[in-house]
Amino acid sequence: GRPLVVAIDGPSGSGKSSVSKEVARRLRLAYLDTGAMYRALTWYCLESGIDLSDASAVEAASESFPLEVSTSPLEEFVRVGGVDVTQAIRKPSISAAVSSVATTLGARTELIRRQRELIDQHHRRMVVEGRDITTVVVPQAEVRMLLTASEEARLRRRGIQLGGSQTAEQLAAQVTQRDAKDSTVVNFTRAADGVVTLDSSDLDFEETVSAALEIVDSII
Ligand code: C5P
Repeated sequence: GRPLVVAIDGPSGSGKSSVSKEVARRLRLAYLDTGAMYRALTWYCLESGIDLSDASAVEAASESFPLEVSTSPLEEFVRVGGVDVTQAIRKPSISAAVSSVATTLGARTELIRRQRELIDQHHRRMVVEGRDITTVVVPQAEVRMLLTASEEARLRRRGIQLGGSQTAEQLAAQVTQRDAKDSTVVNFTRAADGVVTLDSSDLDFEETVSAALEIVDSII
């Protein structure tokens, strides 16, 4: 078929992954979670005892680490050198460290190169989600979307209730801090020119998927 890259950016807790995956299923497109690639590199660096503040070591690791990531919305897996890290990369220790890796420019260059390679391997028929997909990875994508949600909605979806326990406050602070650190390299808080904003604050999952599919329909 014709190329159809659907690029979806957004902050954590915007529902980006689940929505992107469902859009890929409905449109029968391949699917790439680029955040999983940054998480896998972080896992690999920590496992190899690499100091995350050593930019050249992190960059070297990004070039040599044997990453396999699912490109199907029907199955989720991430493997590094044959080790299944699908669950391990979702741990809080990885979430806390991933921004250090993601702010290493040399590592970004390498992961972006791999992302473009995967998109080409799928004949440019893919939903690709992350932080810099609409602006850096595939600015020429047929469809470009920024999925946003109010801070309140994002915390609610993560099961964090403000004004609750101290643990809840700490969790909220971690999420906010990661977004703040991430946005020092990639601006995903405002839509770039030609990027359609979809605010999901007052939408449930189904409504968000429908709205995203309508955006795709209106553009292609
Ligand atoms: O999407 P997810 O929360 O799993 O992403 C994990 C981290 O990977 C983000 O906090 C960010 O540091 C990094 N990332 C990035 N660019 C992308 C996708 C993710 O820097 N395109």
